[in-house]
Amino acid sequence: MKVTILEIMMNLKAELIILFDNIVIAGKNNIAIKVTRFIILNYPDLNIYVIFNHNDNGVDNAWQKSFKKYCSSNHKITPITLEGSYQIHNAIFLSVEFDKIIVPKFFKSTKLYNIHFSYLPFYRGMYTSALPLLYNESTSGVTLHCIDSGIDTGAIIAQEKIVLCNIFCASELYDHYIKKGTELIQSHFLSLLKNNYTAQEQSTLQGSYFSKNTINYESIDLDFFKTSLDVVNQVRAFTFRQYQLIKFNGDNISYAKQLSTKSEREPGVVVNKSKYFYIVSTEDNDVYLAIDKLSELLSMVKRGNINECIKLLKYNPTLALEKDELEQSGVSLAHKCGFISIVKLFESFGSKFDSEDNC
Ligand code: TYD
Repeated sequence: MKVTILEIMMNLKAELIILFDNIVIAGKNNIAIKVTRFIILNYPDLNIYVIFNHNDNGVDNAWQKSFKKYCSSNHKITPITLEGSYQIHNAIFLSVEFDKIIVPKFFKSTKLYNIHFSYLPFYRGMYTSALPLLYNESTSGVTLHCIDSGIDTGAIIAQEKIVLCNIFCASELYDHYIKKGTELIQSHFLSLLKNNYTAQEQSTLQGSYFSKNTINYESIDLDFFKTSLDVVNQVRAFTFRQYQLIKFNGDNISYAKQLSTKSEREPGVVVNKSKYFYIVSTEDNDVYLAIDKLSELLSMVKRGNINECIKLLKYNPTLALEKDELEQSGVSLAHKCGFISIVKLFESFGSKFDSEDNC
């Protein structure tokens, strides 16, 4: 069959057809900023409307930037309310960590999408940085899906898995969600604009949902009437330094590991303790809990005290990847101070947790 030049031109034109004039981005944090920046750069003809979360006070914190602040310095972006967005014709609505439930029937547009931080249909709802770790999952993921009248129940457009074995804690998982979620939106955005995608309805025979009541962060406590693996997973799930670290005997705990010694005492009994750690019995083996020493470690880095850094990292190797409230990590500080041997030390500890090869 011969394809004429005219047909090729027509196909090319069809390829370029973008069906929408308006985009509404509702949400928070670096993901909302990165997606908005991507759209401004790549689709300058789109009118961009934004809706902020109620707790976005327009101030950056070191961990996540303020979407409101970012938008206030860009004249191409128009802030609106959720109610205001209902009336916009010819629009795509994109929710990225938005804090309100969307009711599709209120919208003039039917093109409503959400990025959810889990591998749907599993872990619909809240606390998806904590719960997959708490329940010892080997993977989680990010999902781009249509918004329907349920919570995270709409048809799936695209999703990507995240392997959890080398993700020690909830804040680290959240960072992965932000990165992978941004990439997923970017790689599918054109197909949304062209209304040219397939969406797979979610199965009603599998999946899970967790409401706000699932975790009360005001009263999280380690439960030792569990296996040592469960206790390690509790520490992983509740280690989110920007919100909290879990406490034991009044100390902040930021790392845990299973030990090979069988527990001979009642669960929860301290078998050994030092300035740096506790060893506690559980229902099977003893568990090692590292007392948080990030600020001590960073001050040792500043002083160039490599021996003390080695000692602290041996007690808690995950500190090699952690950042304080000013977003300073050991490796960034060591770089700044020009302590190359300390940079290498942090890189060697950090790589043990960074690689999927160990899974
Ligand atoms: P959040 O942005 O409130 O979103 P979501 O519950 O939808 O995931 O919180 C991000 C993650 O932060 C959450 O998955 C679990 C963790 N988190 C805490 O560790 N402590 C807290 O007090 C809160 C609110 C969240």
